[in-house]
Amino acid sequence: MTKSATAIAHPNIAFIKYWGNRDHALRIPANGSISMNLSGLETKTTVTFDTTLDSDTLTLNENPVTGPGLERVSQMLARVRDMAGISTYARVVSGNNFPTGSGIASSAAAFAALALASSSAAGLNLEEKELSILARTGSGSASRSVPGGFVEWLPGDSHETSFARTFAPLESWPLADCVAVVSQAHKAVGSTGGHTLADTSPFQSVRVQDAPRRLEICRRAILEKDFSTFAEIIELDSNMMHAVMQTSTPPLMYWQPATLAVMSAVQAWRKSGFPAAYTIDAGPNVHVICPEGFQQQTAQRLKEIPGVLQVLQATCGGPAHLVE
Ligand code: PMV
Repeated sequence: MTKSATAIAHPNIAFIKYWGNRDHALRIPANGSISMNLSGLETKTTVTFDTTLDSDTLTLNENPVTGPGLERVSQMLARVRDMAGISTYARVVSGNNFPTGSGIASSAAAFAALALASSSAAGLNLEEKELSILARTGSGSASRSVPGGFVEWLPGDSHETSFARTFAPLESWPLADCVAVVSQAHKAVGSTGGHTLADTSPFQSVRVQDAPRRLEICRRAILEKDFSTFAEIIELDSNMMHAVMQTSTPPLMYWQPATLAVMSAVQAWRKSGFPAAYTIDAGPNVHVICPEGFQQQTAQRLKEIPGVLQVLQATCGGPAHLVE
């Protein structure tokens, strides 16, 4: 007997970043975070519980996956089996429509789609909050890919209180993300490993203590569509996270020369009145955020910077959802 469901989820870009955990196993974050889902970019995942299987299987972009990648997926499936009171193994088939290594975190969309597809295939009808909690256990930022639009992950202090919710609908402020890809190499230290190093930086406690202030400024700037305040706070927050990364033991230096070239170009554009702001995740590629009306010009300007290999574009996206 088989039971199947298919879900689509979008990646997200954090404006106030998540870095470091209070509880690594449950991925309860050290601080709250704010993000925007990215439309046009998506992960589509089909989960089939099949009584003839004797273990879980995973196919990603048409390639079979074993080892740690499969193990992480299996952990979420085990959680879902527990919740549904079933013991059947599942076949997971997943694909992204955006290139891996493009500086777009695929784990957020992947675990949001997996949480929705697996829980529905298991016959659970989870509410958005419960889905966000489930997605969080696979990848912290996946909690933010469950609701749509502009999202805040409330850090909480337990499994039940740490989840994300929409605080402004996607239509409320048409922003675009132009991703300046400067390297396609696989990063040496991924975010799961990086989170465990955060507390070795003397700057992490300062970053975490100041987070409620940055969250408030960012939330308000989004609600008031105040681009210049928004630009300043997201660049500050990204710089603070990278200061923590760079001062961890061992240090994590994700920037490359072209990363800095884009950062300084964006700051110069803004000084001359052009509305754009940068934010950088755990990698060298730079997300440049601008009002949608400036998207084409931003992408064009980025392509002219030496070292920029390609520019991916997205606007504000909706929630994770089931498809036929
Ligand atoms: O969810 P993870 O473990 O991939 O961590 C995401 C970390 C950052 O992308 C650097 C920041 C964020 O809030 O998305």
